[in-house]
Amino acid sequence: MRITITGTPGSGKTTVAKLLSELTGIPVFHLSDLIREKGFYTDYDEERDAYVTDVEKLTEFFKGKEKFIAEGLVAHYLPSDLCIILRVHPSELPKRLAGRGYSPLKVAENVEAERLAVIATEAFENPRAPRIAHIDTTNRTPEEVVQLILRCIEGEEVFDDVDWLEEQGNSYKNP
Ligand SMILES: Nc1ncnc2c1ncn2[C@@H]1O[C@H](COP(=O)(O)OP(=O)(O)OP(=O)(O)O)[C@@H](O)[C@H]1O
Ligand SMILES: [Mg+2]
Repeated sequence: MRITITGTPGSGKTTVAKLLSELTGIPVFHLSDLIREKGFYTDYDEERDAYVTDVEKLTEFFKGKEKFIAEGLVAHYLPSDLCIILRVHPSELPKRLAGRGYSPLKVAENVEAERLAVIATEAFENPRAPRIAHIDTTNRTPEEVVQLILRCIEGEEVFDDVDWLEEQGNSYKNP
């Protein structure tokens, strides 16, 4: 099975993907490393200290691979059988990102991206997988998240109905 795991930085992609790979024996690919090591990028964004992914080259690399876990910010652009979107409450995210040496601005940008569901929206609007799972990791341990993903692999639909904008009661959605 081809599994992609996406989500805002700090949502827990790498942690969960490693655990899932250990439990299932499915090889895991950490896309940020792969993109850097194999040169699957079109540009380097100095301001953000990030590579701009060459999605075509990345997709080509996975072509023909039938069994993988690919985790990263661009994982949802890859064709797969199951796309997992990890969500985390914006107020929890700074704790997850602590100790990385990110600037307060970078932390705030990620909190805002999670609040606005930037990655989840991308994944929903242009799906590359027939099945999408949406998992709120806020009050779950990585082990619990992996157990949920195992149920998805078995065919169960897992879809947590979270919307941080709605929850905070602001009017962005329906001005
Ligand atoms: N339920 C959970 N699932 C995953 N990670 C969690 C969970 N609860 C706490 N964490 C912690 O959140 C932190 C961030 O996780 P991780 O580095 O896996 O995120 P990431 O999505 O890979 O981030 P990035 O996109 O920057 O690589 C880790 O310290 C991890 O232990
Ligand atoms: Mg990571």
